[in-house]
Amino acid sequence: MSKDQLIIFDTTLRDGEQSPGASMTRDEKVRIAKVLEKLRVDVIEAGFAIASPGDFEAVRAVAEAVRDSTICSLARANEKDIDRAAEALQPAQSARIHTFIATSPIHMEYKLRMQPDEVFAQAVAAVQHARRYTDDVEFSCEDASRSEFEFLCRIIEAVIAAGATTINLPDTVGYGVPGQYAELIGRVITNVPNADKAVFSVHCHNDLGLAVANSLAAVMQGARQVECTINGLGERAGNAALEEIVMAVRTRHDLFPVETRIDTTQIVAASRLVSSITGFPVQPNKAIVGANAFAHESGIHQDGVLKFRETYEIMRAEDVGWNTNRLVLGKLSGRAAFRARLEELGITFESKEELDAAFARFKELADKKSEIFDEDLQALVSDITPPAVQRKYKLVELEAHSRTGAKPHASLVLLRDGERHQVEADGDGPVDAAFNAIEKLAQSGTELKLYSVNAITSGSDSQGEVTVRLERDGIIVNGLGADTDIVVASVKAYLEALNLLAAGIMRAHPQKEGI
Ligand code: KIV
Ligand code: ZN
Repeated sequence: MSKDQLIIFDTTLRDGEQSPGASMTRDEKVRIAKVLEKLRVDVIEAGFAIASPGDFEAVRAVAEAVRDSTICSLARANEKDIDRAAEALQPAQSARIHTFIATSPIHMEYKLRMQPDEVFAQAVAAVQHARRYTDDVEFSCEDASRSEFEFLCRIIEAVIAAGATTINLPDTVGYGVPGQYAELIGRVITNVPNADKAVFSVHCHNDLGLAVANSLAAVMQGARQVECTINGLGERAGNAALEEIVMAVRTRHDLFPVETRIDTTQIVAASRLVSSITGFPVQPNKAIVGANAFAHESGIHQDGVLKFRETYEIMRAEDVGWNTNRLVLGKLSGRAAFRARLEELGITFESKEELDAAFARFKELADKKSEIFDEDLQALVSDITPPAVQRKYKLVELEAHSRTGAKPHASLVLLRDGERHQVEADGDGPVDAAFNAIEKLAQSGTELKLYSVNAITSGSDSQGEVTVRLERDGIIVNGLGADTDIVVASVKAYLEALNLLAAGIMRAHPQKEGI
């Protein structure tokens, strides 16, 4: 059976960023984009250029950094949005403009307050305008799964005639169920006379836990692009998870008449990076990338796997990148080995100073932890405050006490703008005491929105990776910290968040800004 290509369109940086609290800085987006490129994603939706100056800069920076994937920006169906998207995409080797307008009666009447004919005309004009910039134009009928079939077909035929090369039919509110959603896709493809001039795409939300199932069912009916995100990140309950879509079509190649370009061995690394940057941990039983996804607990299963792996395993852990957590470096490893391994992990440095800082951190870690895994290296790098950030606060010393029956207490020496301060406080636990002590000095006026700790590798000598999310006046910052001592990791994360805030490097929710 000859196979069609299934285009993998990753929207972690756009729809994924719409997960409350998951917003990312420009540099973090570039790091994720480089890993997506290494994963061989076909299209990377890097943002919504008009949403905010930060989004614009991020799309531009990704367009500059990535060569092997098409870079896409979202734009509403109007000239201003499209012009801004095109401007941000200028440096891209291969650029796509993705324009959308809602087509369901409920959205047209209550949200857009437009008549269907006005929506129709605006959609066609938007596609024509986008084609002035690139011949790769995607058009989305927002809320397609609740749109009227006749109207959907009419508008799709017209936008294809106007030059749209990809037609996306999103299940925007996660309302579809596999049989019915797939039937819609199949019927549209059959009924639209010029359907053969475009690639049909699906974009499913996970409100009923059906995003992956709906997308795969649609592939069976002719969809040849799936929009998805790493770890299923996305607005509300998220989008279809990239790793599940890719591994499903690969594992069940007997059923799916498609193949992807994805280098599946990069999946775990991508999942880890997105999780550590956003502070959204991956649940242990998550398919493909959860810590238990390939762990066999029951004796019967273990026995079966030992005798013949395929008795209980339908995929090989190493095919999705689980074997990369092997011991890679140790105390005696030099700078060249360190740098080479990071490059293999898709991590590069813009300056010698950055490499030096990372290497110094590596040596510090190697003194405390005898075995250093890839995950440790990734955490070590995500833990380094970007060079653009002037470090207002720095940790010099930390002492934390906790004893059963006694009030936990922390005492810290901090540098603020280079000046030494000693602070101490009690708290409900040693981490709480340390945060209270920092706040005695910083008085930041922030609210702690998220505190999460993840063990980076297994074993009690594992580094704890901490995310601290602080909010002040609607501005969100995520600080990351990693250390074998989780109180130290927590303090590092808290101070990094304060440093980002002081430097104005924030992650405001994109849609809370410009539009
Ligand atoms: O969910 C949705 O409909 C979207 C569109 C903008 C594609 O994200
Ligand atoms: Zn969406």
